[in-house]
Amino acid sequence: MPMPSNGTGDGSTPDSHARRSAVEATDGTVRHLLDIDDLDRTELFAVLDLAADYKLAQKQGRDHADLEGQTLGMLFQKPSTRTRVSFETGMTQLGGHAIFLGADDIQLGRGEPLKDTARTLSRYVDAVMARVFKHENIEVLAEYAEVPIVNGLTDDAHPSQTLADLLTIRERFPHLEDVSATWIGDGNNVAQSFVLGCALAGIDLTVATPPDHGIDESVLERAAELGAAPTTTHDPVEAVTDANVVYTDVWISMGQEDEREIRLRRFDGFQVNEALLEYAPEAAVMHCLPAHRGEEITDSVLESERSIVFDQAENRLHAQKALLTWLLE
Ligand code: CP
Ligand code: NVA
Repeated sequence: MPMPSNGTGDGSTPDSHARRSAVEATDGTVRHLLDIDDLDRTELFAVLDLAADYKLAQKQGRDHADLEGQTLGMLFQKPSTRTRVSFETGMTQLGGHAIFLGADDIQLGRGEPLKDTARTLSRYVDAVMARVFKHENIEVLAEYAEVPIVNGLTDDAHPSQTLADLLTIRERFPHLEDVSATWIGDGNNVAQSFVLGCALAGIDLTVATPPDHGIDESVLERAAELGAAPTTTHDPVEAVTDANVVYTDVWISMGQEDEREIRLRRFDGFQVNEALLEYAPEAAVMHCLPAHRGEEITDSVLESERSIVFDQAENRLHAQKALLTWLLE
């Protein structure tokens, strides 16, 4: 499979402890994907192009064992269906191997520090994908690991989801700079990475959230630095009007279960339903899944022709295979 440029160019020798020559930053450190803006625009499109190639190769039954002999550690502090299965299956299809590391099944669950876990795993595996609560935890992993760390969701970010989202949107709308997208609901981890992804990709984005549930100011600033902070509003109708894409996610993310009652009250009026979508008659509907039908989205919308949620789910596989190859080959 042809490789996109990784932008490093100098073929410098990796740290002696790193088992493979993972992509390095210009200062010689290993590259990670802690959020989507760890990629620049050129790198993002190189990964998306490789993802599209992988998707075709898999559909056509063409060999693409580009990571033969390589191992991905998969650390999970929260449950997962899509992230776990798509990363593991992706490694298998690339000729490599993945190891599921439930936080309670390894010594981390008994109090071994993350920094020791990071350094230990680095001596065995070629990359680590981690799903953790606090975003600082993935930063600790990256600080101490000698192999690439890939964010499989934190409380603040979900960049591997964003890669799949952009791939999915580009399949429908090849010219991303002509796309008008709307985020409705919570300004959560999925939303924040999507904001940054849209800024990188040139998608025009409007975000409608209740007051106090907006995108973090620091994320809006990062998006502005990338060239385009989204328009923000508290009015879902204004936000969706004539959009090409309407995207939502749960109102109660993992770890927020105690806030259920207050959140249900605050998000009243932010449901993606048929009445709201009358203002966006052509829009494709996206959701990262799992969905809470009857809360942030209705069953009828999720099951409708305009829903592309299972394309999104499938594209996790292809996008992450491309990301892993880009980081590791
Ligand atoms: N969208 C997503 O990350 O799904 P999982 O929680 O099932 O991994
Ligand atoms: N915002 C959700 C996404 C799940 C994939 C959560 O964090 O629970």
